[in-house]
Amino acid sequence: MNLKLLLTIPALFSECILESDMSDFFHFPKKKINGTEYWEILDRDKLSEKKGVRVVLGDDFEYQIAVFLVNGKTYAVSNICPHRHQEKIFEGFIRENDKVMCPLHGWTYFLATGENTNPNQGVGSIQTFNLIELEGKIYLEKPEIKIPKWRNI
Ligand code: FES
Repeated sequence: MNLKLLLTIPALFSECILESDMSDFFHFPKKKINGTEYWEILDRDKLSEKKGVRVVLGDDFEYQIAVFLVNGKTYAVSNICPHRHQEKIFEGFIRENDKVMCPLHGWTYFLATGENTNPNQGVGSIQTFNLIELEGKIYLEKPEIKIPKWRNI
């Protein structure tokens, strides 16, 4: 059990809130572009076609993303598969150039939207994130990570 969850337990009966506190994120070099904050998370040359890279953004288990390069376009999705809450999406297989399949049990998500390709499989989607490329670096738009509701109980 992580520290954040442990610290939350005494407050369970009062607030039932698990906030994504920005202080829990690691420091990344920041850039403002048109008023939006971006974090420099990766060198572009660390990406290979159809291979995922995990980027850990902070201390909380949820604060990790999987970055993919597919046909020269970059995508970022949550690295946590909602099926069994496993941090495995970065090891997923790219399907038909627009989906990633979790390597554990095959749940598959659209890279652009995070939507589950099978609407009958539990959670409908994983979170997606905005990236831009600039001067050989990959920048992530300042994220607002969604914490699963079940962690509040
Ligand atoms: S943990 Fe991803 S499909 Fe089961």
